[in-house]
Amino acid sequence: MHVAIFIGSPRTSGNTATIATRLDEHLSKSGATCRTYYLYHHQIQPCIDCRRCKVDKQECIQKDGMSVLYKNMEWADVIIFGTPIYWFGPTAQTKLMIDRFRPYFVNKKLHGKRAALILPAGSGEGDCDITIEQFKRVFKALGVVLIDVLTLEAYDLGDAEEQIRKHDFVRDLAEKILQEEEV
Ligand SMILES: Cc1cc2nc3c(=O)[nH]c(=O)nc-3n(C[C@H](O)[C@H](O)[C@H](O)COP(=O)(O)O)c2cc1C
Repeated sequence: MHVAIFIGSPRTSGNTATIATRLDEHLSKSGATCRTYYLYHHQIQPCIDCRRCKVDKQECIQKDGMSVLYKNMEWADVIIFGTPIYWFGPTAQTKLMIDRFRPYFVNKKLHGKRAALILPAGSGEGDCDITIEQFKRVFKALGVVLIDVLTLEAYDLGDAEEQIRKHDFVRDLAEKILQEEEV
């Protein structure tokens, strides 16, 4: 199983990254191949609504940090999107990436892939509803199947780590991802 993990937090040791790293460990132990990308390390230009992806090769004509992200999204069987909640939504870098999904609405290259969300928020689940709904609608438009959503009340660096130590809820997500492949 190929798993691509996209981290939409600027904090490389933050809560999203902690959960993503643990998920990578669990999945890799079970034989999955995981690749992780930190969106803030990629120069992602905004979608400019040029509509060129609707014609010709049905690809984005902008050549930037999205190129490698596109390639690995297409490589993956399962795509993990992790973003902290910023003002009830995904981070700005995550939204830049989402807007650049537009070619996939036309070329259907993500159709049938499975996905999961990792959403830490200072206030926890209650502030994640808008983001969950946004991703659900994006996935529906692209034909992506949502496996699971992991929300977590976490604010400071180390909060996720501390909670994982008490109960490894990331293992539950990993098992769900692996189980569904067997169905
Ligand atoms: C600009 C900004 C806006 C935020 N807005 C929210 C919010 O609306 N609701 C919430 O629960 N937490 C909010 N937070 C807190 C983060 O979601 C929280 O600290 C999260 O654990 C950060 O994840 P990270 O460690 O992976 O970066 C906000 C943080 C920042 C920096």
